[in-house]
Amino acid sequence: MRIDIITIFPEAFSPLDLSIIGRAREAGFLDLQIHNLRDFTTDRHRKVDDKSFGGGVGMVMMVAPVAKALEKAREVNPKAEIIMLSPAGQIFNQELARKLSRKKGLILICGHYEGMDERIADLCDRQISIGDYVLSAGETAALVVVDAVTRLLPGVLPEGAAEQDSFSDNLLDWPHYTRPARWRGVGVPEVLLSGDHKKIAAWRQKTAEERTKKLRPDLWKKYDHQKTGRTLP
Ligand SMILES: C[S@@+](CC[C@H](N)C(=O)[O-])C[C@H]1O[C@@H](n2cnc3c(N)ncnc32)[C@H](O)[C@@H]1O
Repeated sequence: MRIDIITIFPEAFSPLDLSIIGRAREAGFLDLQIHNLRDFTTDRHRKVDDKSFGGGVGMVMMVAPVAKALEKAREVNPKAEIIMLSPAGQIFNQELARKLSRKKGLILICGHYEGMDERIADLCDRQISIGDYVLSAGETAALVVVDAVTRLLPGVLPEGAAEQDSFSDNLLDWPHYTRPARWRGVGVPEVLLSGDHKKIAAWRQKTAEERTKKLRPDLWKKYDHQKTGRTLP
């Protein structure tokens, strides 16, 4: 997949050189291109923001440089879905990450300052928020979206790994343990040391269900509905 990012802080994306995402890029599963918004300005100061019409504190990102950057990104990523990162957007979750991982490409626009000129929203296919809180800049949100989407691209994780992660089938992941089998007097569940794969699978399913019910009753309701058709209160 090709992902283009429009930003005033290209250096913010260095975490995407690391770990699973870094390897996905090296292996060619993800082609990530960063566009510095300041390269699409026309003035000496490379200005990307201006005062808000109507007054008030905070600067607003201007539509013209973003539109130019978008035109350039679309030339090379013509079928991409255009996404604006915004607190006003649809809340990002695993289901949306999966949906986006099936797209031909993505273009992400990172806001700053007080936010973006509303006419930028008209140039986008959707707005995404990573949660009900306000970040200083869209770069942090774009990192989250790129990471969550990339690990779902076919070939990036070992076969079946993503399906075992939390939120697949509306369940949290089961608890994991590794060596030592006893640490400071605390052991691990015996079944995991038994070598009986059928029993281990059953234990994992049961504990995934139990912790989802306890820790995320909202997810549990969805899981239960999916399984039984009933609607829990
Ligand atoms: C300081 S915020 C602007 C906040 C805006 N004045 C408001 O109250 O909704 C600057 C930029 O950070 C990004 N941003 C902030 N919070 C975000 C969130 N929860 N999800 C996605 N992007 C966010 C957006 O790109 C936004 O344009």
